Amino acid sequence: MIIAVDGPTASGKGTISKQLAKHFSLPFLDTGLLYRAVGWTLRNQGGDADDAADALAACVFDGALLDNPALRSEVVGGLASRVSVHPDVRRALINRQKDFAYQPAGAVLDGRDIGTVIAPDADVKLFVTASSEARAMRRFEEMKRRGEPVNFDDILADILKRDARDKNRVTAPLKPAEDADLLDTTDLTIDAAIRQAIVLVNAKTSSRRDKDPA
Ligand code: DC
Repeated sequence: MIIAVDGPTASGKGTISKQLAKHFSLPFLDTGLLYRAVGWTLRNQGGDADDAADALAACVFDGALLDNPALRSEVVGGLASRVSVHPDVRRALINRQKDFAYQPAGAVLDGRDIGTVIAPDADVKLFVTASSEARAMRRFEEMKRRGEPVNFDDILADILKRDARDKNRVTAPLKPAEDADLLDTTDLTIDAAIRQAIVLVNAKTSSRRDKDPA
């Protein structure tokens, strides 16, 4: 079974995907980490994230980098969003994601274009959203817990900028696949959102079994 989970930043899609993978015993890939690794490499090599050639040159990185917690910073997230606009960068990362999605064991992947580009025939597609204010508040609380300096308005502005870039790029923009189930987490606790995601996956797979009995 392939489960594709897409959605904007801080929607809860990462936590939901990880828990779906655990619940259904499937391997999990956070595809945002690949773009973050490119952003991180570009920063270390030097170069302009908005320049296609510089960004492509940063697509060669050691797989061990994906385990580096520094990839999770806001700065690297912003660079990831900028490098992900370039079609050459997306092309350089596509096979790795498709190979993961179509491995025999099945998989859960989360990102922006999983249901539309990476695994368009996934068994289940979830599009996880939440209001921009709720997402900014989650990020605010998270950063405060980590002891980082925080300003709600700056975080909200950053989220809106990232959303606009991810949604409006020409190649593989952030959008729900036509056959995706929407999961709005604005008013849900993370536990409730996970429970709802499991219900959606079970409903999708059982309706498919009813239509197509073995
Ligand atoms: O999910 P994330 O915040 O780690 O993603 C960081 C950036 O990477 C995001 O703003 C856009 C890009 N990205 C993408 O373009 N396609 C994906 N499948 C995953 C992430």
